[in-house]
Amino acid sequence: MLRIIFLGPPGAGKGTQAYFLCTHYEIPQISTGDMLRQAIAARSELGLAAQAVMTRGELVSDDIILRLVAERLQQEDCANGCLFDGFPRTIEQARGLQRLNIEIAVVVELQVARDVIVNRLSGRRVHEPSGRTYHVQFNPPKLAGVDDVTGELLTHRHDDREHTIRERLRVYEEQTMPLIDFYRKSSVPYLAVDGNASVEDIRNELETELQQVLN
Ligand code: AP5
Repeated sequence: MLRIIFLGPPGAGKGTQAYFLCTHYEIPQISTGDMLRQAIAARSELGLAAQAVMTRGELVSDDIILRLVAERLQQEDCANGCLFDGFPRTIEQARGLQRLNIEIAVVVELQVARDVIVNRLSGRRVHEPSGRTYHVQFNPPKLAGVDDVTGELLTHRHDDREHTIRERLRVYEEQTMPLIDFYRKSSVPYLAVDGNASVEDIRNELETELQQVLN
């Protein structure tokens, strides 16, 4: 069972690399951020509750997130594993995963310098229905402003404004960074990768290093 956790600050490239790895290993990407944005788009009760919190750059409550993930893991496509992107994000969420007896094959941390992040996020464009991610300069779609696969329009996320990006970074340092120590001290294999390189270089490094860890 191949279950991978991606750790890293906002804009580290988790979603970008998750897309490649999920295609490579044929496992689904479980992005709690994408799930929350889908709930907002559907105007569900959960979406309405999460919207203001996300716009402020804060974290949605552990209870809600753990319920979402537990439900998602029941779906058939998770039978051979999954890649957790942006989850867990607090020690409580990591403990929740342990309580569900969800075993993790490897934790991957993408390390990126703080000053790179604002640049990356302010140029990011997303295809909301699929979660596919582009960058106007570093990872542009084939046709500007349009998703490569569906031809639908790309959007700029509400929380990708400079003020909110800084708050998300603060929240990451305070609430998510303790997970680095948590997993490094655990028995789960831990892989730290330099996320400052190009999309292609990181992709290649990840595939090579994961192959070694997982064999
Ligand atoms: P979420 O959607 O998870 O956002 P995030 O963790 O802040 O991560 P991002 O999606 O911003 O960045 P990424 O690392 O995926 O980078 P990407 O690949 O897109 O969460 C949003 C909000 O939802 C949270 O703030 C919170 O409120 C809530 N939430 C979600 N999960 C939660 C949880 N578990 N608990 C509580 N609340 C939760 O890349 C960024 C840009 O850089 C793109 O434009 C990309 O093209 C470009 N890029 C990527 N790699 C490179 C590279 N190597 N070189 C140059 N450019 C690159």
